[in-house]
Amino acid sequence: MAKSARSAAPKLPSRYPYYLANRPVQANTDLEVRDKYRGTVATRVALADAAAVRKAIVAAHKAREAMAEFPPDARRDVLEHCVRRFRERAEELALALCVEAGKPIRDARGEVERLIDTFRIAAGEATRVGGETVELQVSPRARGYRGLVKRVPVGACAFITPFNFPLNLVAHKVAPAIAAGCPFVLKPSEKTPIGALIIAGILAETDLPRGAFSVLACSNDDAAQLVEDERIALLSFTGGLVGWDLKARAGRKKVTLELGGNAACIVDADPGRPLDEVVERLVFGAYYQSGQSCISVQRVYVQAALYDKLRKRLKAAVSGLRMGDPHDEGTFIGPMVDEAAAKRLEGWIAAARKGGAKLLAGGPRQGNMLPAALLENVPRDCDLYRQEAFGPVALLEPFEDFDDALDRVNDSDFGLQAGVFTGSLEHAMRAWDRLEVGGVIVGDVPSFRVDNMPYGGVKRSGLGREGVRYAIEEMTEPRLLVLRDPRTG
Ligand code: SIN
Repeated sequence: MAKSARSAAPKLPSRYPYYLANRPVQANTDLEVRDKYRGTVATRVALADAAAVRKAIVAAHKAREAMAEFPPDARRDVLEHCVRRFRERAEELALALCVEAGKPIRDARGEVERLIDTFRIAAGEATRVGGETVELQVSPRARGYRGLVKRVPVGACAFITPFNFPLNLVAHKVAPAIAAGCPFVLKPSEKTPIGALIIAGILAETDLPRGAFSVLACSNDDAAQLVEDERIALLSFTGGLVGWDLKARAGRKKVTLELGGNAACIVDADPGRPLDEVVERLVFGAYYQSGQSCISVQRVYVQAALYDKLRKRLKAAVSGLRMGDPHDEGTFIGPMVDEAAAKRLEGWIAAARKGGAKLLAGGPRQGNMLPAALLENVPRDCDLYRQEAFGPVALLEPFEDFDDALDRVNDSDFGLQAGVFTGSLEHAMRAWDRLEVGGVIVGDVPSFRVDNMPYGGVKRSGLGREGVRYAIEEMTEPRLLVLRDPRTG
């Protein structure tokens, strides 16, 4: 679509501060945030420099004790305050996502709902961070000894978040940190920092101890301190494979990595659901928010008996997806985050076609707008098959034998989630046993996620788990108390 035909840009505040030790700060230098559909500068955010990042780390480190002592019910109240404010500001939050991420408005509203869910779940967990008793009397020498374990916050955390879910992937670090009692410094993606800054503005309304949080847009060079500074006890990173390099530089810190993948979905001979529903879910899983999700459906393996029928219906559905202005309620495919990302994927599609792949749906790129693409006969050694596409594309492949389909899912360097449509309980159990992934979704696409479930991958997809309770576990460590009964001799 010609830029001139695009409707007027919705208004965001002209400038956002960063937050250092709970307080807003305006800086001399700004970062421009572009409207991803229009390409224009939508707003500016204050850019933190290396000194500000250092101050944030010092403040978080100093706030360790105050946060650990901040009572669980007070942590819950902070999280509940956020839930209330997110509800009040829901449309503003959705609009910000639509502008800064180019996320279609319906997906943006869905992400705001998930932001609310994630904080609501964390509010519930804040008063449930428990422990256990350990029976120590395993032999006569331990007679009269009792063991108790509680979980204590690890200390200051550093969080680095990506562009594709500017609210909810921030929420998955921030909300568990508050529930666990960990101060933190967060660097949002420089492409989409607004969501995190709105969350920070709402946190600034609460009585969290001074230094409990800093949210800073800064350069990757300045963010190096978050990775390397020994005062940070845990680094949690969501993004690309660069996460493994960060881990190598992180010293003694605990590290959580969520790095995506090339998720697969199997459609069995008996898919267990009506075929139209399978198609609808595949379209959602592969193309919602232009496939810019770590669990977007990329590879679809279809049992040969169903292949032609499914291919025909999927091709029709994908060809009919509406691409355009993300503010338009009818838009399904919005822009990719930038032209470089769209060009990269366009190149991968072209290379696959050169290698013999057939394009069933798709079309020419216009700037950062890439029409939804569907391919078959994609060579297994090309980037489109092996790397994370992170865009609106899926490839189809027939299989005869269910175990062979499982092998193909596993024939990947990644392993985040996999989907299996099957009506066979035996196949469902085999998939759960054999698939090398963090989560197997039976009856739906790998893109299914609810925010309290354990979420994370194996192989190159990452390390550790998010999903509120699981993130709290990462952000706390067990501390043992041994009590010797004074009555024993
Ligand atoms: C991701 O893209 O990393 C997260 C996907 C989700 O939360 O749905």
